[in-house]
Amino acid sequence: MSTERDMLEIIPTHIRALKGYVPGKTIDEVVLTYKPSRISKLASNENRWGFAPGVPKAVGKAMQVANNYPSALANNLRAKLAAKLSCEQEQLVIGAGSESLLGLFCRTFFGPEDEIITVSATFVGLNIQAHIHQIPVVQIPLKSDYRFDIGAIAASINERTRAVYIANPNNPTGTIITKEELGMLMRYLPEEVILILDEAYFEFARENPLYPDSLPIVNQKNTAAHPNTLILRTFSKAYGLASFRVGYALGPAQLIKTLWKTKNTFEPSGISEAAAISALEDDHFLTKSILQTRKARQDLEAFLAHHDIPHVPSSANFVMLLAPDETQALHITESLLRLGIIVRQLSPFGIPNGIRITVGLEEEMEHLKQALKSSWSTS
Ligand SMILES: Cc1ncc(COP(=O)(O)O)c(C=O)c1O
Repeated sequence: MSTERDMLEIIPTHIRALKGYVPGKTIDEVVLTYKPSRISKLASNENRWGFAPGVPKAVGKAMQVANNYPSALANNLRAKLAAKLSCEQEQLVIGAGSESLLGLFCRTFFGPEDEIITVSATFVGLNIQAHIHQIPVVQIPLKSDYRFDIGAIAASINERTRAVYIANPNNPTGTIITKEELGMLMRYLPEEVILILDEAYFEFARENPLYPDSLPIVNQKNTAAHPNTLILRTFSKAYGLASFRVGYALGPAQLIKTLWKTKNTFEPSGISEAAAISALEDDHFLTKSILQTRKARQDLEAFLAHHDIPHVPSSANFVMLLAPDETQALHITESLLRLGIIVRQLSPFGIPNGIRITVGLEEEMEHLKQALKSSWSTS
C-alpha cells in the first residue's frame, strides 16, 4: 500500500506549494470555540441586509425543474443583464461567482510563459487561480496611502505581460482607482494586454464622482476604448446572493465566445440563475442595500476617526483598520472574536497589520463599537 508520502508525490509540486484560500471563520466555529453571548459576522464582505424578498419564490419555482440540467448559456439572465447594461448578450458570460470566472480567464487566456500584473495587496482569489495555472503574478507595491501606483504598474509592463488585474474598489483596502487614473493606465496599455477590471463592489462605489464608469470601455461602438477589457461583476455583494454563486464577465464578444467554450457547462445552477434574475428585477432592494451600506460605513468611519483608530477611507462595504503591527492586529482580532465579532486579519492579503471589517446592521455595528473600545485600547 502506498504511504502518504508516495501519494503526495503524484501531486504536481506547484499544487503542493499552494497555500489555498483561508475563509473567514463560520458562526458555528466561533460559537464552539468561544461561546460568546452573541455573534456579528463581519469578516467576508457579505450583505448584512439579506437579499431581495422575491428571491425565495423564484428559487422555489426553479426547484420544481431541478431534476433537469439548467440552460447552458444562461440566456434568460444574459438577456436581462444585457438590457440593464445596454450591451450585447454576446458580450456576457455567466459563471459560478466571479472567483470562478477569474479561474476561467487564467486557464483560457494565459500560460506559464506570460505574466499578470497586479498590486501587492488585493483579492487573493486572483493569486490562487494564477498559481494553479502556473502563471507568474507581478505584484506592484501599493502606495503609502494604500492606493494603486499607476505609474509603477505602467512601468512594469513588458513583453511577457498578458493582463493587468485591477480590483476596483480594491479588496481589502476599499480604495478606488479614479477615472483619471484608469484613463492614464489605458494610455500605457498595449492593445494585446487584457485589462481585467474586477468590480465586485462597484454598486457601493459608483456614487463617488471620481469612480470610473467602465461600461463605455467595452462598448463595441466605442473605437477609443481598450478593446481587450474584461469587466467582472458579482451577485454576491450588493445583491446579497453570495451563497448562490453567480457572477458575470462583460467584454468583447470574441473573448467572451472563447470563454463559453472553456467554462464548466452547467454553471451556475438553474436555481442560482433564477435567484439572480429575481434580484435584478428588484431595484428597490438594491437601492436600500446600497444606501444602508453607505450610512453604516460613514458611521463606522466617523467612529474610528473619533477614537483615533487608524483606517483607510473606503468606497466598498468594508473598512480596513490599521493596527501598529501584525502581533497587535492578531491580538485585536482574537479579542474581538472572544466577544463574538468575526473580522478578517489581513496577513494572507499582504497587509499584516490590517484588519478588514464588513459594515452591517445597526445592532452589529453597535456590538462592534463597544468591543473595539476595549479591544483597541488594550492592544
Ligand atoms: C475583489 C473581489 N473579487 C471577486 C470576489 C469573489 O466574489 P464571488 O462571490 O463572485 O466569487 C471577491 C469576494 O470577496 C472580491 O472581493
